[in-house]
Amino acid sequence: MTLRPGLEGVPVTQSAICDIDGLQGNLTYRGYPIGELASQSSFLETTYLLIWGDLPSPQQLRDFEAEVQMHRRVSFRVRDMMKCFPASGHPMDALQSCAASLGLFYSRRAIDNPQYIYDAVVRLIAKIPTMVAAFQLIRKGQDPIQPRDDLAYSANFLYMLTEKEQDPLASRIFDRCLILHAEHSLNASTFSARVTASTLTDPYAVVASAVGTLAGPLHGGANEDVLAMLEEIGSPEKAGVYLDKAIANKLKVMGFGHREYRVKDPRASILQELAEELFARFGKDEMYEVAKALENEATHRLGPKGIFPNVDFYSGLVYRKLGIPRDLFTPVFAISRVAGWLAHWREQLGANRIFRPSQIYTGVQARRWMPPEERNQTRNN
Ligand code: COA
Repeated sequence: MTLRPGLEGVPVTQSAICDIDGLQGNLTYRGYPIGELASQSSFLETTYLLIWGDLPSPQQLRDFEAEVQMHRRVSFRVRDMMKCFPASGHPMDALQSCAASLGLFYSRRAIDNPQYIYDAVVRLIAKIPTMVAAFQLIRKGQDPIQPRDDLAYSANFLYMLTEKEQDPLASRIFDRCLILHAEHSLNASTFSARVTASTLTDPYAVVASAVGTLAGPLHGGANEDVLAMLEEIGSPEKAGVYLDKAIANKLKVMGFGHREYRVKDPRASILQELAEELFARFGKDEMYEVAKALENEATHRLGPKGIFPNVDFYSGLVYRKLGIPRDLFTPVFAISRVAGWLAHWREQLGANRIFRPSQIYTGVQARRWMPPEERNQTRNN
């Protein structure tokens, strides 16, 4: 048996959802180029496409949007549960708990019933944003505000989060960000979702496990670290020195590198355009100049190794301009990625076999238990 750490290059499933060409920097969802979807589609339309395989008809889209709108509210019990969470806790932990708690409310499991799948998709897509926004207000000591039925999906989320109706351009840019983050083949959280799905558990457990995986700094959590890094660098002329130090100390430069891409992540290019659109309308962010300088310096130093900006590099700057607090960047990523996780959940159920990989055992061979007084060991941490 040959071990491939991180399962690099090891296919573990077949999938018809998303395709990445890491050498050319191309990404498609169900065959549609990401650039086209990000400029023409809406997040809910893209969600429908990812999960059911084709773009919806106008009636299917209207029905889906209406269903999602109807299920945006969360039970007062979930809100009360959130009030018991420590305000200092990370919102990803709050989200993971809330997503898992939905399994308590909708405990009937009928995963071979298409209507059950549709209803679960609608609930998760509808309620996850409400939960993220509610925790934000609750931890500030406020009551969450109810969704507004006259606002579309993204505009409503920004409203629930910031307590004010946002400019339509801001809402549209946020919606485009959700499209960009909705799916990316077998990244760690999606793999986690598929492994959990393969046990035939409920979709709330599937999403909760994926949220936990997305939280890590090597995955979704990198977008928070990028802004901290840009602030640490402070000004564009210090980018080169920072990079040299990071490379010399073998530190990862956050927002750079990807298992699949050897060129700039196409989503990073679109996010950079969105950032510029936002800055042109609502004013500059000084850290953008630092980011550009860092990307420029990194092209010479990391580019030859195929390390370029990934999706997380510019997303934080966009989210900050939209008034989203830094520790909500990853929960916002989750709002979007739940579409991809659910697409993989559905696909996994269609041809399921439980994931059960093997290992290469490296521990000690069989030995005998000894009474405590006969042991002479120091603890191995
Ligand atoms: N900065 C500096 N060097 C990097 C790097 C980065 N961001 N990402 C990878 N490298 C280097 C590694 O040091 C390693 O070099 P070596 O072969 O000389 O030891 C080589 O590239 C391979 O890195 P590795 O960590 O094995 O790649 P991976 O495919 O396992 O990891 C990531 C992919 C995304 C986890 C990794 O690039 C990373 O940690 N990036 C920063 C975090 C981030 O932005 N995550 C968001 C991903 S969308």
